[in-house]
This record gives sequence, structure tokens and C-alpha cells, in this order.
Amino acid sequence: MRRLTLRQFRVFEAVARHLSFSRAAEELHLSQPAVSMQVRGIEVILGLPLTEQLGKKIFLTEAGREVLHASQAITARLDDLQANLVQLRSMDSGQLNIAVTTTVSAVATGILARFRGEHPKVAIHLDVSNRESVLGQLAANRIDLAIMGQVPDGLGLEAIRFMDNPLVVIAPPGHPLVRKKRIAVRDLASESFLVREAGSGTRGAMERFFAARGLEIRSSMEMSSNEAIKQAVQAGLGLGILSLQTLEMEQALKRLAVLAVEGFPIMRHWYIVHRADKRLSPLAQAFKDFVLGPDSLG
Ligand code: PGA
Repeated sequence: MRRLTLRQFRVFEAVARHLSFSRAAEELHLSQPAVSMQVRGIEVILGLPLTEQLGKKIFLTEAGREVLHASQAITARLDDLQANLVQLRSMDSGQLNIAVTTTVSAVATGILARFRGEHPKVAIHLDVSNRESVLGQLAANRIDLAIMGQVPDGLGLEAIRFMDNPLVVIAPPGHPLVRKKRIAVRDLASESFLVREAGSGTRGAMERFFAARGLEIRSSMEMSSNEAIKQAVQAGLGLGILSLQTLEMEQALKRLAVLAVEGFPIMRHWYIVHRADKRLSPLAQAFKDFVLGPDSLG
């Protein structure tokens, strides 16, 4: 079966609006026979006339009114589409979908605040979860970009490093190890630790560090939040290993101490990540450039 074309709809819509083939031809910069041919094309496919001429006047038949109705809906839909695409192309509106790992969230919100200062109309959707969850969102193509620790090879991800992320051992200020200037890693074997949940990048780095030294660490409790770990360490429930970036306030207020353990800090890094096959929207590209540029860290 032959199909109706957009061009036929457009031409017929002009004829129906003007109720005149010649004025439609003028508006569309076509010859009158070309206009008649397009309308005739629809009539052949439908097997019904769309117009009738009574005297000098043209009227729409019932089929003509139906086709006009459909043409107007299609034209409106195309206009909407065009307007939406213009918006998608523009950088000052539109939505940015980002996921960041828990540990980098404070750094990431600072970057987002500075970015938003330059693009105040942008809507930002930020998901904060652990490393495994962020990797899952990249795999499912649910986000434009992620900020997280090093990503595994072979997942088709492009990752660019932009900042250091040192992990340190923390203790409550009164802990006996706080006074020691050099602590051997094996001295930690008798301590118990508060650790992040499985799936956390911090937890993975900590496990690799001790496994590489043949040491097994006792964990007294598992928690899915850095804040909870800090509070538990302050309360004397054990030691913790966290990113130095999450400890600014506790260090300033001397609520927690960083221990001088050899091999520490474990130096990790933050990356801006997206699927290698993803065509970034101009907005997402602008955010990526901003993160890698000189103004992102204030
Ligand atoms: P997480 O983040 O420990 O909050 O998962 C760290 C990372 O991505 O390495």
C-alpha cells in the first residue's frame, strides 16, 4: 500500500486553510498543478475526494476535514519536536543527569554549585550512591556522567582523572596510637575497624591494601555511610579508613585524628566518567569540560 507523505499533508493543509489551490501554491512557492498533484495523491491513496467545488468556491468534504485535522496535529507535533530539539541543543536549559559516589559527594556538590553559577537555568538531577550502584547506572545508560573512583577496564567507559583522593586511617583523639609518630601496618591487626559496605570503592581499596600486605583486618561493624563511620569512630567503636576529603570539619574541631600509618594515605583519584559510546549532549559536554577546567574546584 502506498503511504501518505508529510509533503502531501503540508500541501493539503495550506489548500484547506485558504480554500484555494492558487493561494496555497503562492504560499508554498509551488505551481498550481504541483499543488493539485499532491492533493490528488492523497485522494488516490484514500479513494475519496478531499475537496469539492461548488460554483467558484472550494469546500472540504468530510474526508477532507479528517485529513485537515490529522495534518494540523502532525504539524503541531513537528513544531513541538523542533522546539524541544532547539532546547536540547541549547546549554542554558535542559537537564543534566549525574551520579556520584558517596565519598565524592561533597566535592561534587561544590563543583555543581560553581557550574550552576554559570548556567543558572540548568536542571540538575544528582544521584548519590556507592561505586557499584554508579557503575550500574552507567551500564544502564541512565545518566550522562558520573564522578567516581577508578573504573574497571573492559566496561566501555571513558574516564578522565581530575583530582586526588587520599584515604587515611582515623581514630578518636584519645586513642593510644594517636601519639605514635610511625605506626607499622601490622600494628593495625589488633585493632577493629568500622568499614563501608561491600560495593563501596573505599572498602575495595582498603581490602586491596591489606590483602597486598598479607594482613587480615578485623571489622567490628559495616556501615553504608561515611558520616556514620565518623560518628562511630568518635564514639570509640573502632578505627576507620576514609577519604581525607570527608574529614575537614572533624579535623578542624579535633574530633578525629589521622594516624601516621606507613603506606598511608592510600592514594586514589577522582574521575569524570561516561560511556565511551555515549554522544554527550552539549550540556553534559559543557559540564565535563568544566570539571576538567581550572574553575571547577574553586
Ligand atoms: P564510595 O566511593 O566508597 O563512596 O563507593 C569511592 C569510589 O568511587 O572509589
